Amino acid sequence: MIFENLKTEIQDAILLLTISRSEKLNALNQKTMDELSSCFAWIERKPEIKGVIITGEGEKAFVAGADITEFLQMDGPLGKMLSKKGQDVFFQIENSSKPVLAAVNGFALGGGCELALACHMRVASENAQFAQPEINLGIIPGYGGTQRLTNLVGKGKALELMLTADKVDAKTALQIGLVNHIVPQQELLEFCRNLMLKIVAKPPIAVAMTIASAIQANNQNGYIIEAENFSKCTSSDDFKEGVTAFLEKRKADFKGH
Ligand code: COA
Repeated sequence: MIFENLKTEIQDAILLLTISRSEKLNALNQKTMDELSSCFAWIERKPEIKGVIITGEGEKAFVAGADITEFLQMDGPLGKMLSKKGQDVFFQIENSSKPVLAAVNGFALGGGCELALACHMRVASENAQFAQPEINLGIIPGYGGTQRLTNLVGKGKALELMLTADKVDAKTALQIGLVNHIVPQQELLEFCRNLMLKIVAKPPIAVAMTIASAIQANNQNGYIIEAENFSKCTSSDDFKEGVTAFLEKRKADFKGH
């Protein structure tokens, strides 16, 4: 698919998705949000894509936030629409049946931090910086950040970040559990590819059901959903193949059904 503000490249079943507005530090305008939505709908339809890495163009920013120039006309009703739409796009990413990894290569501010939070895992380059600075504009994170940040790092730390707008560096992000790893910037994509290669070698139904269950962790019905998803795995050929291969002491040949 061709996009104006996204670049896509498939290699070894992994889609590298680059947010590409580097002159605006990859800020998410509505066009980019629409393209992210179309891209994730396309990813679901493409069996040859088994995992996704999202990064930002250039060496300075992952995404420096929602595009603030589009906030000028915003009033109450428009604000609600914009927040709902942003939440929907980021739900689409979180609900992706393919694992999504954020390769955070610089500033991840506001909507950029929320985008990283909507991904299933995060790896930061040494120069990455994270913040939810919305409060400085008189607003709050509106693309799911109040929920996902709190779920990931706990109420106390999340509230401190959202109420002070302070930036945290990669080391602090690792300490508080906001990212899984820190690597030098030149090694970021290779590290992410290697991590993703391990995951895309696993049986795709079990990968999808693990994600679908884990993202329900704070939902009271999470245990019911986990049991349903467990049953979807035990109905698959890959499950039979995995068990048989183990018993026959050979490597499993997963087909994705
Ligand atoms: N929305 C729209 N444009 C943005 C943007 C955003 N969130 N973040 C950066 N840009 C634009 C700048 O306006 C500038 O455009 P210009 O060259 O046409 O003037 C360009 O990107 C480069 O940014 P600049 O501010 O010159 O870079 P810097 O190195 O001096 O500062 C930041 C980098 C990230 C600290 C600064 O851009 C910033 O604070 N951005 C806003 C962050 C924010 O509040 N995000 C949350 C929004 S809810």
